[in-house]
Amino acid sequence: MTKHILVAVAWPYANAEIHVGNLTGSYLPADIFARYHRLKGNHVLMVSGSDAHGTPITVKSDAEGVTPEAVYHRYHAGFIELFQKLGLQYDLFTSTHTQNHFKVSQAMFTALKTRGYLYTEEQQQWFSASLGKFLPDRYVEGTCYICGFEGARGDQCDNCGNVLDSTQLIDPRAKEDGSTPELRTTTHYFLDLGQLEQQVVSFLEERQGYWRPNVVNRSLGWIRKERLRGRPITRDLDWGIPVPEAGWEDKRLYVWFEAVIGYLSAAIEWAALSGQPGAWHQWWTNPEARAYYFLGKDNIDFHAIMWPAELIGVGEEFARVFENTPGRILTLPYDVPANEFMNMENRKISGSRNWGVWGLDFLSRYDADPLRYYLTVNMPETSDSNWDWDDFVRRNNNELVATWGNLANRVLSFAAKHWDGRVPQPGPLRPADEALLAIVEDGFDSVGQLIESVKLRAALAEAMRLAAEVNRYLDEQAPWAQVKTDKDAAGITIYTALRAIDNLKLLLAPFLPHSAEALHSMLGYHAPLFGEQYTEAIADNLGEHQALRYRAAAVPGHWRPSTLEGGRVLRQPGPLYKKLEPEIADQERARLGGGNG
Ligand code: MF3
Ligand code: ZN
Repeated sequence: MTKHILVAVAWPYANAEIHVGNLTGSYLPADIFARYHRLKGNHVLMVSGSDAHGTPITVKSDAEGVTPEAVYHRYHAGFIELFQKLGLQYDLFTSTHTQNHFKVSQAMFTALKTRGYLYTEEQQQWFSASLGKFLPDRYVEGTCYICGFEGARGDQCDNCGNVLDSTQLIDPRAKEDGSTPELRTTTHYFLDLGQLEQQVVSFLEERQGYWRPNVVNRSLGWIRKERLRGRPITRDLDWGIPVPEAGWEDKRLYVWFEAVIGYLSAAIEWAALSGQPGAWHQWWTNPEARAYYFLGKDNIDFHAIMWPAELIGVGEEFARVFENTPGRILTLPYDVPANEFMNMENRKISGSRNWGVWGLDFLSRYDADPLRYYLTVNMPETSDSNWDWDDFVRRNNNELVATWGNLANRVLSFAAKHWDGRVPQPGPLRPADEALLAIVEDGFDSVGQLIESVKLRAALAEAMRLAAEVNRYLDEQAPWAQVKTDKDAAGITIYTALRAIDNLKLLLAPFLPHSAEALHSMLGYHAPLFGEQYTEAIADNLGEHQALRYRAAAVPGHWRPSTLEGGRVLRQPGPLYKKLEPEIADQERARLGGGNG
């Protein structure tokens, strides 16, 4: 039975370039998972976009003296280029700065309010008379009231690392013009998380049996220790989504509240773009649908606590407010397989110190599949991992090239040479051939189950173990010698090996889609394994945004053992991967920490 799978991927802030830690943390695992389910023939909807609002964007735009739009457009364009090159097949990668997202977020706000989960409260906030506005925490600096450091930011002290209550800063000054701000009263909307606590705890406890222990324990532990208290969902800022209420024109929805709503609004936008405006319901109001969220550990609270609280809070009211279809509740997360972090050469990745490997820069020198391979074998699924350039070169050469690429290339070239570019017509298979195919075909279950439980490192290791079995089989059968004495026997061996390679191609395709597609074509297939990505400019009354989109493959679903027939015409084989020189490790390390980050 085909299933509906929502692949919800963290929304990158459009204020910084994406590095390998972000890729392995959220975006790549999501794509591997989505590709697998598409190969299975399931109905996948993979959505995300740029997180365009909030102070992360305005701080950057102030620093550069440009508009927030300009900052968001520049980084957004870079994300789309990177995702296309790396082959991350989003059904829709959009942005939070769209009319649709505004509308959906405001409907969520209204639904929560109607259901009694919002309240207003007065707060003290720094106000700059000279600038004529309230200052968000990041816009105030002063002396830390904990350690005495003079350059503390309102939200956090970089010296002692403590999160600060900005109203307690000593000698506060506005970052923008150095003026001394005064405390004024401002009113904000709060999400009443206390009222939702019991339901959020039940939601987590129901999932305790299969979620990653670090994700569920951290969330439950945090709730038990801190309890859930009201959190402000509006703030004094002019960049972002207006509060849908008269008298609130100077305030905006808080970015943490609205960005997560993007998972819903992007599905709605996708449905409209596809010409079936109601299609989002198949993932969002279908009790059989499963929603998986891919993100890094810094975002666990938002996805395991806040977003479920918003979804539980709106109940049936969202569909009623949004399109007058009552009686439907929204799908809660099925799993939140959050990853830990990846370090770079044993140090924390840092944009400001240019300590990292940036996606687009990497792809200007190397191919996408070696990156996908290395980021999967080192995916920080259970603890922090480390990018090591020597290890990258070694694994590329010893595993990707030696174990898998050479296997496929050797066997295809041999068939091209001795069987005139065709799959040999085999006689009856021998026990050793049957045994090998049985071992490799078991991979459809073993690799598949590991991917379904989001153990992607183990899944890739399992597929590579099967590739090693094929190498062992070839060493034993030695068709290169056999062909001179008994060409029929060599033909059976090569037939068997080609079928095993055809299977491995699929088992590896979610991880290594570019080379899998190339190999698929060398094996003589015509219809590609996967669909295509393309970009589209979408205009609404906020302006125009570029979107990355996906067109499904002509043949839905391939995840089943090969039935490669003898006599099939093969295409010209070529190497799938390049060997790398060991010297590149030193060259690449020399770039770390250098200028123009
Ligand atoms: N843009 C934020 C971050 O990168 C949040 C991402 S996930 C979202 O940390 F759903 F909350 F947007
Ligand atoms: Zn301090």
